[in-house]
Amino acid sequence: MKNTLIAPSVLAADFANLQRDIEMINNSEADWFHIDIMDGVFVPNISFGMPVLEAINKHAKKTIDVHLMIVDPDRYISSFKKLGANVLTVHLEACTHLHRTLQAIKAEGMKAGVAVNPHTNIDLLEDVIKDIDLVCIMSVNPGFGGQSFIENTYDKVKKLKALINKKGASTLIEIDGGVTNKNAKQLVEAGADVLVAGSYVFGATDPLATVADLKQLSCF
Ligand code: DX5
Ligand code: ZN
Repeated sequence: MKNTLIAPSVLAADFANLQRDIEMINNSEADWFHIDIMDGVFVPNISFGMPVLEAINKHAKKTIDVHLMIVDPDRYISSFKKLGANVLTVHLEACTHLHRTLQAIKAEGMKAGVAVNPHTNIDLLEDVIKDIDLVCIMSVNPGFGGQSFIENTYDKVKKLKALINKKGASTLIEIDGGVTNKNAKQLVEAGADVLVAGSYVFGATDPLATVADLKQLSCF
């Protein structure tokens, strides 16, 4: 049975009750914390920054998966390591020297992730796929939680899975945006290994049960 990982996105948490929501994830069947950092330049929104991540890290008992939606991410790699990131994901579209950036992330002892926007062709990753620990396929345009899932994502996941297999890489495929119980199974069938879910989890009346459902229907 495949152990698909579930990563609730803290962007959809109640920031006035952040510790409560972090404890909910700690006590749930979720595997990772997904942390969205937005700079208002790479994406048209500003989320939260370093002091908030520092506070999250004090309470979080699971892997911290940081998704940087910022320009010039190289400037902040060592800062995010200090703040507790275990996986650090940069956007392909924000990196001029992606290979160098990946090496810098790994040199800090973190797993290196690359996120791709909906318009970005997976083929662009061919020459670096073996250097990437995780590819985050954006299934919405980055910047906001609560958007609808882009259907073309399934084909993209299949194409990426084929590339990973062809190159003999062990890269994980993460899906980010609009994930619910309606698309989780099909995403895993296409090749997804990690499912990020924000509003679906935190907007539910019973977030613990929602995480458990998502986990159950994506592990088969
Ligand atoms: C979007 C973020 C996502 C977002 C997902 O830019 O990268 O991680 O929080 O939220 P939902 O699951 O609500 O689409
Ligand atoms: Zn994200």
